[in-house]
Amino acid sequence: MKNIITIFLCLSVQITIYAQNSTSLNNIIPRPLSVTETKGVFTFYKNTSIENPSSLLNAKKLLESHLQNYAFPTTKAGSEIEFVQASEKEKMAKEGYKIAITPTLITITAKNIQGALLATNTLVQIQLLQNNAQQIPCGVIVDSPRFEYRGMHLDVSRNFYSISFIKKYIDLMALYKYNTFHWHLTDGPGWRLKINSYPKLTSIGAFRTHNDWKSWWNSERKYLSEGDPNAYGGYYTQEQAKDIVAYAGARGITVIPEIEMPGHSNEVFVAYPELSCSGKPYVNDVFCSGNEASFEFIEKVLTEVMAIFPSKYIHIGGDEAGKDDWKKCPKCQLRMKNESLKNEEELQSYLVKRVEKFLNQHNRNLLGWDEILEGGLTPKATVMSWRGEKGGIQAAMENHDVIMTPGGETYFDAYQNIPSTQPEAIGGYLPMKRVYNYEPVPSVLPKEKQKFVKGTQAQLWTEYIPISNHVEYMAYPRAIALSEVAWTQKENKNFDGFLQRLQSHYLLLQKLNVNYYHPSTLVEVFSTPDLAVQKNKINFTSEIYNADIRYTLDGSIPTVNSLKYEQPIYVGGETTIKAAVITNDGVVHESTTYAANYHKAIGKKVKYNTHWDNSYPAQTESTLTNGIIGSITYSDKQWLGYTTNFDIVVDMDTVTSLNKIGLRFMQYIGAGVYMPKWINYSFSNDGINFTTPIKVENDVPDNDKKLSFKTFEIKLNNTSARYIRVQADNARRQFLFTDEVLVN
Ligand code: ACM
Ligand code: ZN
Repeated sequence: MKNIITIFLCLSVQITIYAQNSTSLNNIIPRPLSVTETKGVFTFYKNTSIENPSSLLNAKKLLESHLQNYAFPTTKAGSEIEFVQASEKEKMAKEGYKIAITPTLITITAKNIQGALLATNTLVQIQLLQNNAQQIPCGVIVDSPRFEYRGMHLDVSRNFYSISFIKKYIDLMALYKYNTFHWHLTDGPGWRLKINSYPKLTSIGAFRTHNDWKSWWNSERKYLSEGDPNAYGGYYTQEQAKDIVAYAGARGITVIPEIEMPGHSNEVFVAYPELSCSGKPYVNDVFCSGNEASFEFIEKVLTEVMAIFPSKYIHIGGDEAGKDDWKKCPKCQLRMKNESLKNEEELQSYLVKRVEKFLNQHNRNLLGWDEILEGGLTPKATVMSWRGEKGGIQAAMENHDVIMTPGGETYFDAYQNIPSTQPEAIGGYLPMKRVYNYEPVPSVLPKEKQKFVKGTQAQLWTEYIPISNHVEYMAYPRAIALSEVAWTQKENKNFDGFLQRLQSHYLLLQKLNVNYYHPSTLVEVFSTPDLAVQKNKINFTSEIYNADIRYTLDGSIPTVNSLKYEQPIYVGGETTIKAAVITNDGVVHESTTYAANYHKAIGKKVKYNTHWDNSYPAQTESTLTNGIIGSITYSDKQWLGYTTNFDIVVDMDTVTSLNKIGLRFMQYIGAGVYMPKWINYSFSNDGINFTTPIKVENDVPDNDKKLSFKTFEIKLNNTSARYIRVQADNARRQFLFTDEVLVN
């Protein structure tokens, strides 16, 4: 790989230097435990021989199938690949491997087939990273994973994808050392696996009136029968599902099926209404837990599922099951009485426990979303913690295995850049860097409980992802970032190094026709106050590696002649910063504008007359005067959330002259985040008697779906005060989010 560095001299003479970059062994992602480059190359030929012990035969087969993609010329002897099974004495982790590449021989050593398949996937990646796949650099790679569970999930219910796409998805997972494919096969918008004992699940439950989920969701949400004109949907036959299991297994990947219960099951009750509390279609979305037929159904379905999927885990969903239907259902209430269940949460737990017992009888373990904790965790269940890490922490404290799948860090259905620049997504904001920086072992977990965190997983919910190209766009490169979270030892991780290595992976994705999200040319601005110099320290970053960033401090649009960003800059008072990336082709990209403000209230105490909502405490008391402006997402721990009215008093320490005061809010109505109706500012010197408030009314329409920001600002003439009271109306009782009181 060559890296182009462009230098601008004072005469605007552009010189391009080709810097020798690291070779492909150093570009491997996820980063291995150790890589040592040596001189020389190994050359593949059509007749390169592959030796193996019978225990590692499947690794040889995988390698052979990859090498078939290349038409290498036939020549000479002395090009050998040898798989070797490590002896019992050799210390090697369960999935560990070693690859030693010399000019004539590649030796792949692994303890078992999993390690050998992982090594093979590494070798395949090295070849794909080369401009010329016939030659790879010599060296030694010693590797083993940090976590034993490294998953990617795919929801095929909201939108349906072909078997050939599922295989491509698995190929890419294998390349990045994921070992688990979590296949979300059933949900309200469509049941996707043929079940022989309940054929209507797919003949009715797999087809609907609209092609993509969004159109269907916004309609009457009706189902149709297979073969009806305009019936959209689809399902996988059991043979196809078995083929996927085999295909994934050949690449070192286990497929875990998810069969949703007791909620998210509307499609089941269109086919078999008798399993719902009302007994009618189009009424309920939860199974009737009082009806034995529900358990008979679940057991028969799971019996067929277990015959297809040999995975240790069977995922039973368990998330977001409404309890209202059970409250009104005589059968459910009778069950609760007979089983001495105190509430509907315990009724859900009763169902999950019965299902777990059934799975355990068949030597399988139950996996479910963190709602399965409610009403008491079943004895051996493993939990996927999606509503943050709280459920995962609780489960680990109770000695249960946990997969960390928190929405804020691993839900790849969120926007990966500013929403206005992206195709419509479900919401949220999860740029690649945030994925990369995710740490799956919560610091609050005591050391002896940390072992229960088995790994992490990317979630691809597909409500807003109608076609497979779009799945790729949402998954990559974020899945590459998460692969390093799941595989690489924490101390070997480094975002800048990752970004450098990632450059060659963009080319790899192009070779494989992956429709990945391209790194954004927008500049992100980070500002932190430096109290010693009474200025803000400003950093610029970009997803473009080694970006040439130019900036201005006078409000003008940056050009190629503007100041070049080399290191953090310091700006005082109020400064309008504009920064833009200039790419190698000389294009000045769209600039980012940032209003830096080293204001008078930084570091001052705030008295909170009303308290923030405990779900969004940001930096608690210090949030509103810490000098840090929130980003575009309210989950960045700089936005303080309120569900009540807002009422604070800022103490400026001494009587201070005031020219301008502002408080910023965001609106994002899809997430229930609104502007306040108005803001009142009042002043006092004793903290008791305040002036008549000055009111600022909201003027952002409350039906505007766009993410928007507004600073409720007042200008003051010759006002001085020690105390500033700020009140905001939240009559709507939805969320208010505010980040900073700006006092100038
Ligand atoms: C989930 O996102 N409902 C697990
Ligand atoms: Zn019921």
